[in-house]
Amino acid sequence: MTTQTLSGPWWLSDSFAKKALNGSAKFWFATVLVGQAIFSYYIVMFYYLATANQDIERFNEIMPGGYIQGDFWGNIAVVAHVLLAAVITVGGLIQLIPIIRSKWPAIHRWNGRLYVMTALVISLTGMFMVITRYDKIVGTLIGHTAVMINGFIIVVCAVKAFKYARMRKFALHRIWALRLFLAASGVWMFRVGMMAWLSIHGKPVGFDPVSFSGPFLTALYVTVYILPLFFLEIYLRSQRSRSVPKQFLTATMVILISFIIILGVFGAAMGMWLPRI
Ligand code: HEM
Repeated sequence: MTTQTLSGPWWLSDSFAKKALNGSAKFWFATVLVGQAIFSYYIVMFYYLATANQDIERFNEIMPGGYIQGDFWGNIAVVAHVLLAAVITVGGLIQLIPIIRSKWPAIHRWNGRLYVMTALVISLTGMFMVITRYDKIVGTLIGHTAVMINGFIIVVCAVKAFKYARMRKFALHRIWALRLFLAASGVWMFRVGMMAWLSIHGKPVGFDPVSFSGPFLTALYVTVYILPLFFLEIYLRSQRSRSVPKQFLTATMVILISFIIILGVFGAAMGMWLPRI
């Protein structure tokens, strides 16, 4: 009898399942890296250029509640929010690139401080915009509530990730930093999820594009703003687990999510971000 039969085929082994899980996470990160890089490029080319040209009225081509004459503090919040959007998106990617963490820990530390600060300010300005420009912002009460919850989650994760890094409790820091990254990616995931759905159906299905309400949007809000934390939990548990089926199932879930991201990024880049520049 060979060792092969005693321990089962290699592709059902624990080490192969672990490799599949790791590989799926790397694939997921590659799709996020490309997608968020394109999103950042759009933010810089549209919002940074409009701000540099002192033409923030141009924001209103995209956000009905962008520039409002006479609302000084509201306009400051909007400008800060969109300028920081690129900082947090690029900053998050830098934090997750393994080689930067291992080779240049000082960059990880300084960028981490900037990332946490940005996460706090972008959430607080976003909440301020929702509250003070409630009637001008696209969407319904459900959407506004969901993004407020997302803002709250970002603040909690940012504080915890920073606290555990200061206390040098790196295992806890890693978990809260990953939660922070996913929560802070919610806004990007919303756009990607929406464009993936539109690419599949070719037209708005399950929501009304004028009132921006409907069951699909409600499901998307929950999926992108709250559920990623549960998906992360499943991933982390599978990483610790010795159950081969659990690891394969999680790897399949991660790959499936990655393909939806690819579809959505393509749709968002071609149908939303690049044409606006
Ligand atoms: C943390 C990551 C976030 C990023 C990267 C981000 C990015 C952006 C960008 C780029 C826009 C301009 C619209 C567009 O071009 O797509 C925007 C608008 C907006 N954001 Fe955020 N945002 C984030 C978090 C939040 C949070 C947590 C809130 C609320 C609590 C929020 C509330 C808003 C509001 C109200 C608008 C205006 C939308 C409208 O007028 O229709 N954002 N955000």
